[in-house]
Amino acid sequence: MKMYAEILEQIKAVVLDERDAVANMANISSVIFNNLKDINWAGFYILKKDTLVLGPFQGRPACVRIKKGKGVCGACVNRKETIIVDDVHSFPGHIACDTASESELVVPIIKNGIFYGVLDIDSPVKKRFGPQEKYFFEKAAEFFKEYSEL
Ligand code: SME
Repeated sequence: MKMYAEILEQIKAVVLDERDAVANMANISSVIFNNLKDINWAGFYILKKDTLVLGPFQGRPACVRIKKGKGVCGACVNRKETIIVDDVHSFPGHIACDTASESELVVPIIKNGIFYGVLDIDSPVKKRFGPQEKYFFEKAAEFFKEYSEL
């Protein structure tokens, strides 16, 4: 299993020469999903008007539309900060796309003051995400923003 710093280098490498947001979201999802342990879903939702719409991801098929304010992802749109849920069963309104999910981390993607979408990560293990993971996924979202045309 690679260390986070090494995986961040890999994420940077896949976006460095590409400006297309969909291509970059696809490759970032793949790098996350294939290099981290205990992750059952990794991907993006894109905000269109007041609804998050499913973007590129890795994992089981997921719910396509999430209204602003609904679930962990929708709560992230309102709070505009990373949300870590240690146990999804105790998060009011959590939307279960994959019944295997036990914990979740959602990072907002905001560029030049515009809310673009979220990076959503699910784990089949409770309390999978702590400060190290928050730093790692926020950094991954930063690389995405920096190199993609949004
Ligand atoms: N659990 C999320 C829905 C998206 S899936 O996890 C892929 C939520 O509550 O917003």
